[in-house]
Amino acid sequence: MDKASKGHVTAVKKAVACELADADHVLEIGCGTGELAQMLVSQGSVVHGFDMNAAMIEAANERIQRNHLEDRFKATHMGVDGMDSLPDAFYDAVVSTLVFSELSDDERKYVFKHSARVLKPEGIIVIADEVVPENIFMKLFHKLIRLPMLAMTYLITRTLTTPISDLSGEMKKGGFKIKKEILRHGGSFAMVTGKRSKGV
Ligand SMILES: C[S@@+](CC[C@H](N)C(=O)[O-])C[C@H]1O[C@@H](n2cnc3c(N)ncnc32)[C@H](O)[C@@H]1O
Repeated sequence: MDKASKGHVTAVKKAVACELADADHVLEIGCGTGELAQMLVSQGSVVHGFDMNAAMIEAANERIQRNHLEDRFKATHMGVDGMDSLPDAFYDAVVSTLVFSELSDDERKYVFKHSARVLKPEGIIVIADEVVPENIFMKLFHKLIRLPMLAMTYLITRTLTTPISDLSGEMKKGGFKIKKEILRHGGSFAMVTGKRSKGV
């Protein structure tokens, strides 16, 4: 996927890792093979990643063994619906790259709710994913250029993604204050950082 996207995915993960430079305990939603988790561990974090795809978790565990990350990275086979089993106020950061566009509206709502719960009071959330551009011309252009990418993604991963119409809005409703929003690729890709609102 990364080769197909000309290194875009790895560049996104590097930008996300920079946002999390100070986070001790990180929860990664949909960790895939653990590429981002390894970056986070290399800058000092302890990461708990989970993913609903058993093959992804197997690859993440191979990465853990190959790189001796056992003490710093744990990969669990679990879907987002298992988030209610995670402890309250434990993590400094929750992160997810390229997963929200695979979730339903209800799943995203559930993820925000539990992310707010599992984060410490000053905790942050960073979500990077495909979004619907706000500009009407970019919206049309994006629809056109997205079709071949969508077909290729489906052939490789057998999954269909849906760009999110209002990622920041959903994050706010989920109990976060928006700290930063970076848009790329004509507004079709966003990295949004939120801070847990008081009283959540
Ligand atoms: C495009 S991959 C991205 C993987 C990784 N985050 C990355 O950026 O390399 C999407 C990942 O989300 C996971 N995923 C999708 N829906 C999920 C769900 N409901 N619960 C947990 N993981 C999910 C998939 O199994 C897949 O590993």
